[in-house]
Amino acid sequence: MCGIIGYTGRNKAVPYLIRGLEHLEYRGYDSSGIAVSENGEIITVKTSGRIKELKNKLSGIELRAKCGIGHTRWATHGEPDDINSHPHSSMSGLFTIVHNGIIENYLPLKKELISEGFTFKSSTDTEVIANLLEKYYEGDVLSAVKKCRNILEGSYAICILCKDFPDVIFGTRKGSPLLCGKDRQGSFFSSDIPALIPYTENIFTLGENETAVIEKEKICFYDSEGKKAEKTSEKIELPRQSAEKGDFPHFMLKEIFEQPRVLKETLDSLISGEELFPELSELKKSFFALQKICFVGCGSAYHAGLAAGILTQKLGNITCIAETASEFRYGNIPLDSKTLCIFISQSGETADTLAALLKAKEKKAKTLSVINVPESSIARESDSVIYTKAGPEIAVATTKAYTAQLISLYLFALCFAHERWQIKRSERDLLLRELRTLPEKVRKIIGQKDKAELFSTLFDGKNEGWFIGRGNDFAAAMEGSLKMKEISYINTGAYPAGELKHGTISLLDKGTPVVTLCCEERLFPKTFANIKEVKARGAKVLILAKESFAPSLTDEENVFLLPDTADEFACLLQAVALQLISYYTAEKRGCDIDKPKNLAKSVTVE
Ligand code: AGP
Ligand code: GLU
Repeated sequence: MCGIIGYTGRNKAVPYLIRGLEHLEYRGYDSSGIAVSENGEIITVKTSGRIKELKNKLSGIELRAKCGIGHTRWATHGEPDDINSHPHSSMSGLFTIVHNGIIENYLPLKKELISEGFTFKSSTDTEVIANLLEKYYEGDVLSAVKKCRNILEGSYAICILCKDFPDVIFGTRKGSPLLCGKDRQGSFFSSDIPALIPYTENIFTLGENETAVIEKEKICFYDSEGKKAEKTSEKIELPRQSAEKGDFPHFMLKEIFEQPRVLKETLDSLISGEELFPELSELKKSFFALQKICFVGCGSAYHAGLAAGILTQKLGNITCIAETASEFRYGNIPLDSKTLCIFISQSGETADTLAALLKAKEKKAKTLSVINVPESSIARESDSVIYTKAGPEIAVATTKAYTAQLISLYLFALCFAHERWQIKRSERDLLLRELRTLPEKVRKIIGQKDKAELFSTLFDGKNEGWFIGRGNDFAAAMEGSLKMKEISYINTGAYPAGELKHGTISLLDKGTPVVTLCCEERLFPKTFANIKEVKARGAKVLILAKESFAPSLTDEENVFLLPDTADEFACLLQAVALQLISYYTAEKRGCDIDKPKNLAKSVTVE
């Protein structure tokens, strides 16, 4: 993962680098650092911890340099301490680099370099690249880069400072993203668009194995063979203002509250008059011939795929498979031109999801992605794209982007089933009317935030808990459990309610919190029996159920009633209640809600 930034130009580099890193912190935040070319030397300042620690460290140092690189890390190799933080320099200090990615063959390369007399300070894979550059350098950085590329295995985006060229930054990539751009004050490298947007809307995206060399007034591109290449920029239109927390104590709470608007705007953007998804007219022509749909994503995006698969299979009468991208990319699900693969991603940059998409394309499957960040890599690579309208999501734990994915995919299921003649127009419209009520129902749930806070006491003093449900409710349980785990650090598991008796129930202790999702009408009696089973063994149960189930739940102590909706859409309403319960649980435990430990917003390594 990690974010990398480079600036060379007319002004002091450090403020640009820090501002850039702040925009990229969502990619990793366990350590950060910068290196600048100052009076013929390369000065590196780096530290474990957040960017504010780096700022503290820099506060007493006067750096006038106008060229430098920066990094905010999500450690893959070596713990996140000061030494392993980037930038890393080669043995003699001739090269200093920042790296995003993983060098898979770093161990044999490191052994070889050590046998040749090179020394290492860190336990990262990255330092190997710095020493290799030094090994191959004979006065021409581009040729040293090319030689490195021939032996490095894995993924990388790197920015390189070389003492011999103090005002120049070299950048190259394979498998990890790298962009560049320039304005009148200088030229920039960045892992992603947000760090460049304050300066320029004209962005150059480096292709696989391409190299860019940036100087104050110009940017030159080289192809994989080292030949000069022409490249045209793309105009990116993104809001320049960054998201603010306003009066909310955390971005997560603010983003939970934004959901009614986000859901409505997402639906509105995907419907034109009577037509659903007017922009997918080409894809719609293939609906009749399709034999299977795969829903692919990571974490919450995978959970959105689980719920969408259940609905699409039911309404569209087609085999649907939901799979995590990390399994899909190396798995053997048969793929061909009669398969539609739907890739779900908030960031559009998740490495596993991107690799899964490339695999699907190679196998000639049709590809559609559901993406929140416009212009992201997955959006660019897909045959068709559905954009969700969640806007910038800052909290690492997804809330509004996840429910925006769900509502888009629900709508897709209606559209697919109708276009394929599996449901009548009147049935489609009935479900569509129900879908349109969801934003208001979400508002009602948010209005019950005090109840969510009260129910969060179920987890007081607990270090474990369960989320159970059947069918759609199981998809909701998966997401509820992940949300609780990631922000409160409580070890929760999600289980199909009917599976407990096959082993898991042996773990149940007196007082274990069991959150039971209970909105599927036809499965209600079954899940209700499972509630009785866990209660008989001492569990403390919280039930999330539809209002219309209330008469059957009068004897239950902890019941969070949710507005009635079609069974298939209930997962979205449950998600909102569960987001609030997790939020208040984490708040009481004093957790770093917006930036939980060990995580990053966008996971750009595999
Ligand atoms: C959710 O709260 C997580 N932080 C995580 O599971 C996330 O959904 C996953 O990493 C996928 O990210 P993406 O949507 O940007 O691809
Ligand atoms: N593999 C490198 C490291 O562990 C870079 C990780 C990243 O992309 O953040 O330092």
